[in-house]
Amino acid sequence: MELDRRLFIASLGGAAAVAGMDHEARAEALEDYMSDQLEDALADDDTKRKFPTVADLEAQIDTRGFRRGVGGLFVAGRGNVKKLPPMPDKATLLDYFKLRFTTVNHVLQSANRAMKTGMSDEIIFACLVHDVSQTMIKVDHGWFGAQMFEPYVSPKVTFAIRYHQALRFYPDHEAGYEYPDLYKTMFGEDYTPPPHIEAAYKYARNHKMYMEARLVTVNDLYAFDPNVKVSIDQFLDVIGRQFKQPKEGLGNDNSAVAHMWRAMALPDSPL
Ligand SMILES: [Fe+2]
Ligand SMILES: [Fe+2]
Repeated sequence: MELDRRLFIASLGGAAAVAGMDHEARAEALEDYMSDQLEDALADDDTKRKFPTVADLEAQIDTRGFRRGVGGLFVAGRGNVKKLPPMPDKATLLDYFKLRFTTVNHVLQSANRAMKTGMSDEIIFACLVHDVSQTMIKVDHGWFGAQMFEPYVSPKVTFAIRYHQALRFYPDHEAGYEYPDLYKTMFGEDYTPPPHIEAAYKYARNHKMYMEARLVTVNDLYAFDPNVKVSIDQFLDVIGRQFKQPKEGLGNDNSAVAHMWRAMALPDSPL
């Protein structure tokens, strides 16, 4: 029986939740999942588990104490949030990777695949940071992420981060990107992207930097493997070349986006 890794990981609460499980717990969860899948495969058609519909997902909204668009740093997947270590005065991108970002394993895997398949420095770096804005906010994370990075990276990297969000919903067979089942689970099987996403897709599709954003989505697909552990160390050179670290520290450089970095540095500030 074939295992859809992304669905399996989604069923456990996402890559971050899986990263927190030990090997035994993972093996057990995998076994449960496979036997559920087997039951489903053998069940009569009308009892088979299906993807949720948009209406199913909407019906869940008022069953939670938080909204799905909230950033990973601000709400615990399970139990309570943790006390955070303070950030250094002159915080670097690496400090945020080590002390704050919540999507680290996923983006490392994505950048690792981009590196292994010989992609450009810009694409490797874009993959490395494409989802880190989800630490702060998940809704419209492509736009938030692009804005967060814009003062410190090239236009290609900014474009790739911004438009990967819209391109995810549109297959490109030639580039090797198919619509992922994970989105049927997350958005509902009958989901159609809203007009602003469709417009962003059409704009990006005809843009000279289209492939920068498209290749982020291609590398996104393969980056949900609970057994692959990638270290940030292999990207230090890429970061050095692609990211202009402000000398005052991220959050202190008085840039138009410094407050976004501060929001992640000090997420417990009540106002
Ligand atoms: Fe993303
Ligand atoms: Fe991603």
